[in-house]
Amino acid sequence: MSSNIVSVSWDGDVAVVSVNNPPVNTISAAVREGLFAAADELRARKDTKAVLLWCEGRTFFSGADIGEFSGPPKEEEYRRLFGLYENMPFPVVAAMHGTVMGGGLEITLACHYRVAAPGTRFGLPEVTLGIIPGAGGTQRMPRLIGVANTLDLVISTRPVDAAKALELGFIDKIVEGDLRAGALAYARELVASGKGPRRTSDMKVDPATATDEIIARATETAKKQYRNRQAALTAIEAVRASVNMPLAKGLEYETELANKAKVTTESKALVYAFFAERETRKIPGLGADVRPRPVKSAAIIGSGTMGGGIAICFANAGIPVTVIDSTQEALDRGLGVVDKTYGSMVKRGRLAEQDKAKRMALIRGTLDYKDAAGADVLIEAVFENMELKKKIFATLDQVAKPGAVLATNTSTLDIDAIATAVKRPQDVIGLHFFSPANVMPLLEVVRTGATAPDVIQTAMELAKPLKKTPVLAKVCYGFIGNRMMEGYAREAERMVLEGATPRQVDSALENWGMAMGILAVFDMAGVDVGVNVHKSHADKYPPDPTYYQADFAIYEAGRYGQKNGKGYYRYEPGDRVRKDDPEAIAILRERAAKLKVPQRQHGEQEILERCLYPLLNEGIRILEEGVAVRASDVDVVWTAGYGFPRYRGGPMFYADTIGLKTLLEGILKYREQFGPMHWQPAPLLEKLVKEGRTLADWDRSRLG
Ligand SMILES: NC(=O)c1ccc[n+]([C@@H]2O[C@H](COP(=O)([O-])OP(=O)(O)OC[C@H]3O[C@@H](n4cnc5c(N)ncnc54)[C@H](O)[C@@H]3O)[C@@H](O)[C@H]2O)c1
Repeated sequence: MSSNIVSVSWDGDVAVVSVNNPPVNTISAAVREGLFAAADELRARKDTKAVLLWCEGRTFFSGADIGEFSGPPKEEEYRRLFGLYENMPFPVVAAMHGTVMGGGLEITLACHYRVAAPGTRFGLPEVTLGIIPGAGGTQRMPRLIGVANTLDLVISTRPVDAAKALELGFIDKIVEGDLRAGALAYARELVASGKGPRRTSDMKVDPATATDEIIARATETAKKQYRNRQAALTAIEAVRASVNMPLAKGLEYETELANKAKVTTESKALVYAFFAERETRKIPGLGADVRPRPVKSAAIIGSGTMGGGIAICFANAGIPVTVIDSTQEALDRGLGVVDKTYGSMVKRGRLAEQDKAKRMALIRGTLDYKDAAGADVLIEAVFENMELKKKIFATLDQVAKPGAVLATNTSTLDIDAIATAVKRPQDVIGLHFFSPANVMPLLEVVRTGATAPDVIQTAMELAKPLKKTPVLAKVCYGFIGNRMMEGYAREAERMVLEGATPRQVDSALENWGMAMGILAVFDMAGVDVGVNVHKSHADKYPPDPTYYQADFAIYEAGRYGQKNGKGYYRYEPGDRVRKDDPEAIAILRERAAKLKVPQRQHGEQEILERCLYPLLNEGIRILEEGVAVRASDVDVVWTAGYGFPRYRGGPMFYADTIGLKTLLEGILKYREQFGPMHWQPAPLLEKLVKEGRTLADWDRSRLG
């Protein structure tokens, strides 16, 4: 009996088990059910000489169904299913193509022979989701390629291609031309030469590949690469066990460890982050009937840091883009940087020379706005100045064709105000890219009070070819990400005035998991850039004489960060490694004395709480005000754009992890200590604590 998804047919005496579960042949419950049924069917036919396992469509099994991770454990079922194929009395051949990951690769290890199309990619990426290969990978792979190579695959999580897989020895042949025909021929050769099943369970792991030194090295790598995380270490434990345990026992041990890994906060957070990124495109009230406007060409106004990076995104997507600047000199400089960026990609082997030429040919520089007349989307990325932006939008209103999307890349300006410069405010939207725009995955899509639904849809869809993760926000100062940054940065700056060193603050944040401490971020982005933003918003300052004073003190001493070799830290020429600088510390002390800030010591816990609690609190305010659609969107902004550790899920997931009550009590504790100006709990936080609910509950109750 064949299902729609899994069918068995016979090509002579070779049985072909075909799977068709589009789009990527995930091993869903229905696939497993079909494979069980197929196994029964195979065993019932006595004339079968060999079996070919094969998938239709663009890839062999791409992996397990991640949606099942939060449900009851499936390892035992996988083990039984794979065991059925491994114990078939005739050779079972897996024929692979596409991207074969995790469970998709593990099932082939239970087959007896493996062949693949050229260019097929293989990987065991489980630890990126906080779990371990739990469908036999930690036990069968070492039997084929040894412990050291297996650990390399599991810890690096980097996919390898077919040539490498052949060299490592977990595939037997690369089949050129028609894969199915080639694999069938291979199966027939096996039969003709009398080769029977070749079971991994009968193989032994070479102990020379699992010396103490190899294990110690892998452990050290895992600890370094996965700070504060457990999954890679658990995977090492499982792989190591393959040396001494017979397969059946090893598989049971693997299941035990896999089930432990699955219930860690690390795993829950990573699986949550995976789905959160897919959820951002779902916008309540924006049904399937709202069609995006087609985007076949683009124009960018301003060829500076952001304009150039955004142009690269379009060219990479194959969308022609016109870049406009105000002077030939600025334009030449801007396009020169684009050329250099592509040049360095070629140098690093990331891009072929002819592809560089193709992409550069899609970017056209001009000083004439009329050249943007045919563009479907126009993105303004000039200096952060309201009058200038309004002027540019008024010009765009003159030249852009009807229905074109008019976007701004502003970080801080009121987009509703910018939209007053045009007669078609419904077409205006914020597209907030992050620097470097061609690298950073986050795109904040900012709707004004007037933005048309199909313009929002266009922006969310456009993110796909641009390879961005879009998150919808409403206009407010700083939108989602930068608005939450305010309290985080404020407290870091305040603490270096109170006597903490920049290193102490940054190390506490980095040890906890932030990609980079906030003061080091300021040095990288330019202390002067931050000070200019502070200055332009001086009218919104709270009445706190110490507000941003660390930035001002460092800036006024002529220290702009990495660009001139000194900021909160000191840098050697041509080097980005930060060095502690007594001079910077003295400048901060002097400013503190002038402001009469009492001096004291700070523990790591205080540094973390004072930086993170305002960040979490502001995120909750953002939810309450409807600036973000859902808590998980806030989390995506911070994990994709601000170096917040994915293994902590994001700020809102983290707030639920520590408990909203703990967060509230922490904020109240600091309110007691520092006064109410900066330390006011968000009303929604108080409400949820009173009701004993979480942010996840709140999301569920609103979005269903
Ligand atoms: N740099 C960042 O990290 C970052 C991140 C997100 C958003 N932004 C925002 O992006 C925008 C651009 O920032 P940037 O860092 O790329 O600035 P930049 O100074 O590097 O580039 C600005 C460019 O605009 C050009 N320009 C100025 N006036 C013009 C005019 N009238 N017509 C055409 N071009 C003109 C300049 O010649 C320059 O090439 C700003 O609104 C900024 O707030 C910047």
